[in-house]
Amino acid sequence: MSLLEVRNLHAGYGDAEVLFGIDLTVERGEVVAIVGSNGAGKTTLLRTLSGIVTPTAGQVLFINRDVTGLQPHLLVEEGIVMVPEGRRLFPRLSVRRNLEIAAYSKRARPKLAESLRDVHELFPILKERSDQLAGTLSGGQQQMVALARGLTSNPEILMVDEVSLGLAPVMVSRVYDAIRAIRDTGMTIVLVEQNVNQALSIADRAYVVQHGRIVLAGTGKELKSNEEVRNAYLGLEKLEEETL
Ligand SMILES: Nc1ncnc2c1ncn2[C@@H]1O[C@H](COP(=O)(O)OP(=O)(O)OP(=O)(O)O)[C@@H](O)[C@H]1O
Ligand SMILES: [Mg+2]
Repeated sequence: MSLLEVRNLHAGYGDAEVLFGIDLTVERGEVVAIVGSNGAGKTTLLRTLSGIVTPTAGQVLFINRDVTGLQPHLLVEEGIVMVPEGRRLFPRLSVRRNLEIAAYSKRARPKLAESLRDVHELFPILKERSDQLAGTLSGGQQQMVALARGLTSNPEILMVDEVSLGLAPVMVSRVYDAIRAIRDTGMTIVLVEQNVNQALSIADRAYVVQHGRIVLAGTGKELKSNEEVRNAYLGLEKLEEETL
């Protein structure tokens, strides 16, 4: 039994269909990457799995329960938590307040003190900066707050959209160290990334999405050495690495 099983999922915006029958599974404790070009439908997939977009067909099973079409707050209660692209922190609230607010659900509230202790252990910098306004942190630190906020929601599965977007290379490495640290706690993670190289390096398994369909699937290692993937997604990054 998979932790998450998505069957023939269709979704879109109004008349514009974006996902055309997505099938995927995520096992407990895995890091699964979802990669693909701009506009492929990766964010739409995460939004659909977190209830912001309502599926038009298909099924989402979570811990063997049908959670298809549930409202976002109910999915959070199930333990399905998304860290959105662009972080979406409350910039004028303190780091601590940002984390506390994430624990609004019934499943998270009683565990707040424990969660704060855990995230402070994972990210000591956030303990140091507890009273600082979130908006005054560096981009990389804000991304850590966003990840920590996801954890404070007490997830069973943490789905992270474009964790490295807009960060300087040194910060990308730090944020990926943070993802590894979260993985090492046993957390199940879904990583949506344009940074294909990084994502495939950390992923146990990965899916390539193109025009709203899964076109390739395999282990991170397999996809990293796959000719099609290398040509389509890794060429530019390789060039960038070489010129650094
Ligand atoms: N709110 C929206 N209303 C209408 N169409 C949208 C909306 N958001 C996204 N789309 C369209 O859905 C398609 C998929 O977009 P989506 O953001 O899911 O792609 P993505 O794979 O996350 O891309 P990126 O790599 O740029 O983040 C695109 O054609 C996009 O224009
Ligand atoms: Mg996106």
